[in-house]
Amino acid sequence: MKTKINTIQEYEANFSKAKNQPELFWQDIASQFEWSKKWDSVCEFNMYEAEFSWFSGGKTNITENCIDRHLKDKANQTALIFEPNSPNESAIHITYKELHHRVCKMANVLLGLGIKKGDRVAIYLPMIPELSVSVLACARIGAIHSVIFAGFSSSALSARINDASCKLVITSDGGFRGNKTIDLKGIVDQALKDCPCVNNVLVAERTNTEINIIPSRDVFLRDALAKASDLHLAQPMDSEDPLFILYTSGSTGKPKGMVHTTGGYMVYTAYTFKNVFAYEPGDIYWCTADIGWITGHSYILYGPLLNGATSIMFEGIPTYPNPGRFWDIVDKFKVNQFYTAPTAIRALAKESLSHVTKYNLKSLKVIGSVGEPINEEAWTWYHKNIGKGKCPIVDTWWQTETGGILISPIPNVSPQIPTYATTPLPGIQPVLMDDYGTEIKELKGEGRLCIKYPWPSIARTIWGNHERYKETYFSAYPGYYFTGDGALRNTNGMYRITGRVDDVIIVSGHNLGTAPIEDAINEHSEIAESAIVGFPHEIKGNALYGFVTLKGNVESPEKLKEAINKLISAKIGPIAKLDKIQFTNGLPKTRSGKIMRRILRKIAEGNSDNLGDISTLLNPEVVEHIKNGSKQSN
Ligand code: WTA
Repeated sequence: MKTKINTIQEYEANFSKAKNQPELFWQDIASQFEWSKKWDSVCEFNMYEAEFSWFSGGKTNITENCIDRHLKDKANQTALIFEPNSPNESAIHITYKELHHRVCKMANVLLGLGIKKGDRVAIYLPMIPELSVSVLACARIGAIHSVIFAGFSSSALSARINDASCKLVITSDGGFRGNKTIDLKGIVDQALKDCPCVNNVLVAERTNTEINIIPSRDVFLRDALAKASDLHLAQPMDSEDPLFILYTSGSTGKPKGMVHTTGGYMVYTAYTFKNVFAYEPGDIYWCTADIGWITGHSYILYGPLLNGATSIMFEGIPTYPNPGRFWDIVDKFKVNQFYTAPTAIRALAKESLSHVTKYNLKSLKVIGSVGEPINEEAWTWYHKNIGKGKCPIVDTWWQTETGGILISPIPNVSPQIPTYATTPLPGIQPVLMDDYGTEIKELKGEGRLCIKYPWPSIARTIWGNHERYKETYFSAYPGYYFTGDGALRNTNGMYRITGRVDDVIIVSGHNLGTAPIEDAINEHSEIAESAIVGFPHEIKGNALYGFVTLKGNVESPEKLKEAINKLISAKIGPIAKLDKIQFTNGLPKTRSGKIMRRILRKIAEGNSDNLGDISTLLNPEVVEHIKNGSKQSN
């Protein structure tokens, strides 16, 4: 079977085959990879118990499919292009042969440190080649990688390291981001004060800044690589062996370590990369995400490499040294597919158009969006100025939990409508649920987005807590996977994602749970209680608004606001800082003591004249006070 969809008829044929004969459909696609042993069964599942297995009994190693398989005909083709933070530093082109060499050496370094199949390795690195090599080397020896975004604070880092009992941390002396240098090793040192599970820290050098070294624990990567052999045979993995853990915010409690396994993730990311980006051999593809997030895992590394593509990894930020940086890189490498987030598009659209018109952008064929709903204005700006009115936009909807893209147009095949993620990919059966938990059967409707049948890259569990996995995703609508998103569907069956329906807020494309932020604030000795809600923000999509009650009087509110944001930065990271803080003498509560966030959300949105029924509140008088306070403070 051909896996590339070129016409709407092919899309429809593939879609109906995947729906009616899913096992036949997916086994045809899986057969295109190398397996040292074929699977015994394609798919077994129980949606009620949240149990899934794909290609079970099959054995493979994803890095053989990402790298070794291409050595026959693509050894000298560039696999990864590293574009540094500063445009004055040269890019590095890593061929498939070179990548193989580097990953094998790194695999031997890991083995030399006593890392075995099934061990967990935390990776806390900036977007430098060592990050890609570390991820792939873990996969090659069967260690489970847990990449932690290098913007997280030391306590967020230690919580994640401990949750998965990581034995090793791979980091660097520091990292460059725009005109800042970040002291990553210092953050790791701080985090490891609370992590008895970690035996070693492997340190890459990037900024060449002075760092503290603990000789019994820390190993310079350069020294270890110098001694390592470049011969390594990939560890055969069961299809259902875990490949990685990646943390995502929950609406309550600690972050959830989503577990993805080998075979299904491989098949699905490869298939969706090829179709969603219409990747052709020789194309240069660029996804601007960080490998610390799922988008980077699936669509900088695994999906592109599985297809033998050339993929760019960019260390810097869109606005450094100026807001033309993205477009400069597009022209420099003649990028054919460009994939970014609405928050970056909005930030760049605000700048003078001369930063775009300086570049010709002629190489672009497909442009993509991911991470949050893209508003019509941003979509139109992107289409007109970057896509020059001719490149299809793929508005791709998916999640850390889904492993790969589930809903997206297929370029030059299916129609596109601004703000709509449009149609499900083959193998995906979305449904909308009404307020009573029944499936909306009419085409046109609005409800909560669920998925009916498993696809190969659905997360298998939450690390160490299967009950939480079941409870979070499979209990609200038994028999279905619940996404946490709301959506509407038009009369043509196209989906538009309207946003989260739980207490997760997406700020600049980053998912933030409200509970961990509130917990951080509440640690302040002067603070009694707090509630965080989101409000619309021109660039970030959403920003955070904190309502805070105090134990006593406060002498300097401005100082306290600063202290609150400092606490949040230290506990979670600067991405979770609040844009607005309002001190109040109480929070609206139900009789059972739950904070009524619906009311706070309306006040934060500036919509306080329309609060609906507040008669069920325990303390309705507090609402008036908060309303007045919000008008004064903002
Ligand atoms: C949101 C990112 C609208 C959504 C891949 C989802 C989107 C959450 C889109 C997952 C899109 C992602 N349109 N909303 N195209 N893509 N989202 O886990 O709310 O970081 O549930 O995965 O981002 O975020 P995550």
